[in-house]
Amino acid sequence: MLFKKRNKLPEILPDHIAIIMDGNGRWAKKRGLPRTAGHSAGAKTFQNIARYCNKIGIKYLTVYAFSTENWKRPKDEVDAIMKLLHDYLVDSVNFKDENIKVKFLGDLTRLSDELNVLIADAENNSKDATGLNLNIALNYGGRDEIVNAVKKLAASGADLTALTEQELSDNLYTSGMPDPDLIIRPSGEYRLSNYLIWQSAYAEYWFTDTLWPDFSEKDINEAVISFASRDRRYGGTK
Ligand code: IPE
Ligand code: IPE
Ligand code: MG
Repeated sequence: MLFKKRNKLPEILPDHIAIIMDGNGRWAKKRGLPRTAGHSAGAKTFQNIARYCNKIGIKYLTVYAFSTENWKRPKDEVDAIMKLLHDYLVDSVNFKDENIKVKFLGDLTRLSDELNVLIADAENNSKDATGLNLNIALNYGGRDEIVNAVKKLAASGADLTALTEQELSDNLYTSGMPDPDLIIRPSGEYRLSNYLIWQSAYAEYWFTDTLWPDFSEKDINEAVISFASRDRRYGGTK
């Protein structure tokens, strides 16, 4: 009873949760499996968590799928991750049925034409969904995003000497979205790894040692319960 009560979802949920889906490789290694098996298991967890966030009424979920630095990995691992994304997009014609609006954040020019077509279709087919806004950060880097925004502004003829925070925000991949309220990193690492570095200025953080493929709805519950108890002051007084 007590346990049940403690796990009850709080009334105030974060509008925007961002997750660094980390620990797939270690999960596989622990089981004597290839790293790619960890990524497959992680992909299933991702689908489950996205569905759960939609169910409990989270408005934005942004997941880190592949960073600008992840190209350093062996080619077969990179290919396996891209294949999982490809399969996910092919299978996910049902975004619309689930009322999930999907959007990709990152420099998509480095991805295959085939993947780009699937991404454009997924975004287009789900654009009128009114449930969860699901952002998938792919070939995403926070520094790359900021440089890209400045380049876009310069190319548009904007007066950069008069640049405002709002203008810069409006030219990031997350333009028009609220900043993440809660950033979750599993796998016992305590760093951002170039994730949403501009947008996370006043985010709350929640860490767990659980590896991403083992991450469950219970972890989301714990994270949002912890979030609800935080006192966000944004530099002001109480
Ligand atoms: C996260 O898991 C997935 C990606 C970065 C694509 P990792 O592959 O980084 O797993 P670990 O950190 O090696 O365990
Ligand atoms: C961050 O994880 C990127 C993603 C989860 C996609 P990494 O495993 O790449 O981060 P580092 O290398 O441990 O900082
Ligand atoms: Mg990792």
